[in-house]
Amino acid sequence: MQKELVLILDYGGQYNQLIARRVRELSVYCEMHPYHMDYEEIKALNPRGIILTGGPASVHEKDAPGIDARVLNLGIPVLGICYGMQLLAHNLGGQVAAADKREYGAARLEVLTADPLFVGLGAAFQAWMSHGDLIKAIPPGFSVTARTDNSPVAAMADYGSRLYGVQFHPEVQHTTGGTKILENFLHQICGLKGDWNLGDFIQEEIQAIREQVGDKKVLCALSGGVDSSVAAVMVHQAIGDQLVCVFVNNGLMRQGEIEQVVATFKDHMHIHLVYVDAEQRFLNRLAGITDPEEKRRIIGDEFIRVFEQEAQRLGKIDFLVQGTVYPDIIESGTSTAQTIKTHHNVGGLPDDMDFTLIEPLRLLFKDEVRIIGEKLGIPEEIVWRQPFPGPGLGVRVLEEVTKEKLDILRAADAIVREEIEGAGLNKELWQAFAVLPPVRTVGVMGDSRTYAYPVIIRAVVSDDAMTAEWARLPYELLDTMSRRIVNEVQGINRVAYDITSKPPGTIEWE
Ligand code: XMP
Repeated sequence: MQKELVLILDYGGQYNQLIARRVRELSVYCEMHPYHMDYEEIKALNPRGIILTGGPASVHEKDAPGIDARVLNLGIPVLGICYGMQLLAHNLGGQVAAADKREYGAARLEVLTADPLFVGLGAAFQAWMSHGDLIKAIPPGFSVTARTDNSPVAAMADYGSRLYGVQFHPEVQHTTGGTKILENFLHQICGLKGDWNLGDFIQEEIQAIREQVGDKKVLCALSGGVDSSVAAVMVHQAIGDQLVCVFVNNGLMRQGEIEQVVATFKDHMHIHLVYVDAEQRFLNRLAGITDPEEKRRIIGDEFIRVFEQEAQRLGKIDFLVQGTVYPDIIESGTSTAQTIKTHHNVGGLPDDMDFTLIEPLRLLFKDEVRIIGEKLGIPEEIVWRQPFPGPGLGVRVLEEVTKEKLDILRAADAIVREEIEGAGLNKELWQAFAVLPPVRTVGVMGDSRTYAYPVIIRAVVSDDAMTAEWARLPYELLDTMSRRIVNEVQGINRVAYDITSKPPGTIEWE
């Protein structure tokens, strides 16, 4: 039986992935595709509801992203959010114009009619606005269902055609009852039961992997990160020892990480794990290199060489497991953003390797991957591990990477992470780590002058790493970290805290 599916057409808004995550949290399977998805493909998906996202364009711009009018005539409920609503108005005979001033932030939304979208929300609630255009005239057949002081048409609906539009962002936490609005759309308006369930997903996926692999051999590059770990364990449950995992120590790992990965996968999960100590190879190639992108390229390239050698040793391998997650797929299908840093996933492999890919997480968001990890019995330290870049400490020792600097950074970083963990903040922060700059500063310890490295603590809160806010860590905690680092780590005499958000900063320093 076909599962219920909601299609999200992506117009490039910054909150778009949140829409999809919220829909999934409401137990409805959804897929996000570029706004220009072909009409026939849309029909073939057989969606039970369509959501048009927000986006940065104005409908009046030349080449503004549009919509195939036939999609609006399918009789399937459509919810246009922000730009999506303006698109409905523009295409159906309404009028969209630039607002006198851009509206950004929370606004009081007054509900004007008994609209099924707003069931259970009362007469007024707070809605999050972020738009430069607004609707001046609604299209024929529509009625205005909500307003704010700045937006006389803050929501509209054509009940006959099952078309709904909201100027605000229900997916954002600042819209109180935003989840309820999405729930109303899915359950009341689209009539969905909500049949997306991760327990079933695991069973179906394991079965599919078993059928695909048969009695062949499968290889997986394990990094200790959440995605590759969950992917490996899922494949292991499907085919047991036909899976071989390769774990490459590139010398750029954090303190205790190698032992943790080996203990978890080899001893605890009983996975066939090949451990490769390639520290010296990486350090040799990084000697004298200072440019961050060059370092990334070298680390990625060396990884591939090591991995290829190991793969050859293992004999004929037909499949390769990758921990690709849904945001990777969405971004590669939609993104026009320029590369600010090459987020070279070190698991990325050369085109000429002759494997068929198995990507068991390709349809999942990170939060879903974590839930699956827990269900599969992977220890919490791995499932809730913060993201760690593929090039590892190679981009946190700024400029030239040496063993001496890596050891200093590892010791400081371990204290930062230990204290964050001890304060119970691990899950609240996107990342917390230490960075070692290539300068030295003067200090005084006991009776003598020191001349040693400073270390920078970086801690951020984020939903998706696209934007991030520097974490307001308690002063007491910062103080403890600073004292401990300076006292316990030879080679460091000063601690700084980075109070830059993203943008304009990035999360990493290189
Ligand atoms: P930035 O520094 O661009 O980082 O704000 C955003 C997120 O990406 C991670 N990051 C990387 N991940 N390879 C990776 O696999 C990389 O080269 C890389 N650079 C940054 C970073 O840790 C943060 O979570």
